[in-house]
Amino acid sequence: MKTVLITGCSSGFGLETALLFLDKGWSVIATMRTPHDDLFRPSDRLRVLPLDTTDQDSITAAIDAAGPIDVLVNNAGIGMLSAVEGTDMAQIRAIFETNTLGTIAMTKAVLPAFRQRRSGVIVNVNTSTTMKPFPLFSFYSASKAAIIAFSDCLALEMKEFDVSVKVVIPGQAETRFAENAQSRASDGIPAAYADFAEKALAGLGAPSATTRIKDVTEAIWRAATDPNCPDHLPAGADAWALANAAPQTSPPQTQTK
Ligand SMILES: NC(=O)c1ccc[n+]([C@@H]2O[C@H](COP(=O)([O-])OP(=O)(O)OC[C@H]3O[C@@H](n4cnc5c(N)ncnc54)[C@H](OP(=O)(O)O)[C@@H]3O)[C@@H](O)[C@H]2O)c1
Repeated sequence: MKTVLITGCSSGFGLETALLFLDKGWSVIATMRTPHDDLFRPSDRLRVLPLDTTDQDSITAAIDAAGPIDVLVNNAGIGMLSAVEGTDMAQIRAIFETNTLGTIAMTKAVLPAFRQRRSGVIVNVNTSTTMKPFPLFSFYSASKAAIIAFSDCLALEMKEFDVSVKVVIPGQAETRFAENAQSRASDGIPAAYADFAEKALAGLGAPSATTRIKDVTEAIWRAATDPNCPDHLPAGADAWALANAAPQTSPPQTQTK
């Protein structure tokens, strides 16, 4: 029986991904900062472990307790909607600490065993905001875009050892995420940006296509189990629309003296 360890299982994609892998007969290690026993029906294939991905001791303890795993799903993440000028360095460090360094630290924690066994899959849950610039998403998108570059380089390193690294790229979905991001940004929009931010947020509020939680859990399942899955897998109609849009590149610059 295969085993998956998933971060951020207290809600949203993480919780639903844990339930999907349980339904598929896998052994699931559902990790979360504050374990809740009432989220899952009891199962002898389920373990709920405490794990804060920004705390190295917590990572080491969870990986030791987990034992051998076949798939790591780096799902834990936080959002932030704020103007660059209105965001202080502590808030910026916090989002990179979770979305970027937390993912990297979890990945480093499983690599030695994956390399020695010459098997394993790492699935990093990213965001479609890395495919097109959106105002007020600078830090969130930057913290996630760094993981795309990290994953692509790591995939080349780990191919040598038969370990895969995949990125699942969801669009906008209805989880607690938007609410969490807005509360984190409550003081992040200075008065001079208020009108602009109102218009930008109104534009985000009525998308023509969105992502269902099921789109994301199925994409994570495919990334974990299908050897032919592309390295980057969009999840949801809006994410696919962005992926299929013409690449947004700047015109070539002409050098002038
Ligand atoms: N929903 C969307 O529209 C959307 C779109 C694209 C990508 N995503 C990505 O999808 C992932 C899951 O988000 P979601 O939509 O399911 O939102 P969510 O319901 O807010 O879930 C986020 C999860 O991450 C956990 N988490 C946050 N910081 C953590 C830390 N330091 N250590 C461990 N766990 C931590 C949260 O746990 P606590 O309960 O302890 O806070 C929660 O379980 C994120 O990486 C997000 O960037 C979401």
